[in-house]
Amino acid sequence: MHLLIPAAGMGRRMGSHRNKLLLTLLGDPLLAWTLRAAEASVQITWIGIIAQPEDKSEFEDILATVAPKKPVCLLPGGVTRQESVYNGLQGLPLGAVRVLIHDGARCLATPDLFDRCAEALRPHREYEPPSGIVAAVPVKDTIKVVDGAGLIKDTPDRSHLWAAQTPQGFPVPLLKDCHEKGLRAGWEVTDDAALFEKCGLAVRVVPGEETNLKVTTPVDLALAEFILKQRPHPQPLSQVGRGG
Ligand code: C5P
Repeated sequence: MHLLIPAAGMGRRMGSHRNKLLLTLLGDPLLAWTLRAAEASVQITWIGIIAQPEDKSEFEDILATVAPKKPVCLLPGGVTRQESVYNGLQGLPLGAVRVLIHDGARCLATPDLFDRCAEALRPHREYEPPSGIVAAVPVKDTIKVVDGAGLIKDTPDRSHLWAAQTPQGFPVPLLKDCHEKGLRAGWEVTDDAALFEKCGLAVRVVPGEETNLKVTTPVDLALAEFILKQRPHPQPLSQVGRGG
């Protein structure tokens, strides 16, 4: 299974002037934690990290420290996440059949989550139409639809609402087609499943992880550190040495 890691954003909501994936959690950059989970997954066999040119040398340092045994490529990032994934898809090895896409900022995803998503993406019956998958969790809050003036317009039935996470997985040729179509039509989306849905293709949810938060604000960073400390062996590379 191929994995693309969009890692080419900035840290605006983090109040940071540099890529938030270079911020540290228990001494290691966010990207190192994401990369190590991907490395530990049984199903992932190839990793593409989508990066901005200015982050390349620091990403290379992270790669040297994590020292993954799987092949890893650095691919050029775009102005938006959508453009970054588009570029990443062009950088997949020829013949890649299925791909998981996982935001670098979701650095707490476990190897098991990668494996469950990869497994769910495989067609299980011969005549099953190809579909995408999205790791997701049922929402806990009541969600309101609010207009620009702050007025509540709707309260959707919570029992049907799920919060989409990554990994998200798709058959490569179909996702490439959806991205091309989105580009031509000027669709602006914040995840790849939305492109698949807009093209009328099926996407199924796979149980995600409550701890699989996307580190976005300083509070998320503190929460992520707390969660990692609860895990049996957080093994920050900075403390246990190369290869953990
Ligand atoms: O900004 P946000 O946290 O929603 O971004 C989600 C993921 O997409 C992050 O891992 C970020 O690095 C990545 N991204 C990207 N290229 C961009 C913007 C965001 O790869 N231009």
